[in-house]
Amino acid sequence: MAQLDPNLPNFNRRGDDKMALGHTPSTRSAELVAGARAALLNTEETMALSKMSGRIVARILSDMDRKSNILWFFPARMMAIEALTKRHFPEDKPGMLLVDVAAGFSPRGLHMAKNYPQAQVIEIDLPEVVAEKKKRLEHAHIAIPANMSWLEADLGKVNLHDILEGRKADLITSEGLTLYLTKDENARLFQQASSSLKPGGVYMAEVYFREKLARLRQNPNVNAVASFVLRMVGSVPGMMPSLDFVTQLMFEAGLDQIAEHPVTDMMDEIGQPKPVEIISIMVARKPTLAMRSEMQRVQEVVAVEREATDLVS
Ligand SMILES: C[S@@+](CC[C@H](N)C(=O)[O-])C[C@H]1O[C@@H](n2cnc3c(N)ncnc32)[C@H](O)[C@@H]1O
Repeated sequence: MAQLDPNLPNFNRRGDDKMALGHTPSTRSAELVAGARAALLNTEETMALSKMSGRIVARILSDMDRKSNILWFFPARMMAIEALTKRHFPEDKPGMLLVDVAAGFSPRGLHMAKNYPQAQVIEIDLPEVVAEKKKRLEHAHIAIPANMSWLEADLGKVNLHDILEGRKADLITSEGLTLYLTKDENARLFQQASSSLKPGGVYMAEVYFREKLARLRQNPNVNAVASFVLRMVGSVPGMMPSLDFVTQLMFEAGLDQIAEHPVTDMMDEIGQPKPVEIISIMVARKPTLAMRSEMQRVQEVVAVEREATDLVS
């Protein structure tokens, strides 16, 4: 039995590798997501970025769910973030910086770099994941766009601001990450994203909702898949108790204009099949100076009105 390092979050602690997907819940989930994307999308990139074991596990789970197509939410969430990126950044402009944290084996960074050739795209993940991703791309002869690069870092230990050497991003995305973090770790993630965005910059985070999962698990086929996946990836403390909870965490991190985009609605908009209803993409903005002073003005007006009401009563 491998040793557990008490200083690491559960998500990155080493354990057994029973399905050849990796020793930590973090790598196992990255491989499962990559396998599901490859099994369902079957593109050159998704095939190159996945392992045979990930594709096999994804196929077994697809058989288990008896046509509820539960794994479709993995490709769907990627497409939802891509559609929202296009909506918020309709034009390719020089000087833009687009950052994907905990990028894993997703091809979304490659897509961004191709869609925004004048922008710089940076993916961040643990050193071993970045090295493995580069190896897989090279092995499959997938061309790496010139505007794409990687940074290797343990975001639990190093600040995003330091990893980016103070550079501020127009867009920061995190997909498949919040689920595995505790409330404090998510608060830290949102703060890090907020402090590394340009004023007016956009943060997109994919989140899961506890109540929606509980409702879905009433279906025995979905429940069988969910139990298998949860056993495989370990604890999921970042399952959000409510929309208010995640909105509050983002607001406290200094983000504003916080909006929820359920992935089911996004798929309707882009004409793709709907996944099971469990995840949303939260989109928030780092306020500009003008927005910040407007927010302060509103807060002052509210305070004066409250004082006046207190005086009258
Ligand atoms: C579930 S995977 C999601 C990967 C990718 N975003 C996707 O959707 O396919 C979570 C990713 O978080 C990365 N990760 C976990 N802990 C991290 C940390 N402390 N620093 C950097 N990356 C981390 C893992 O290596 C893994 O690639």
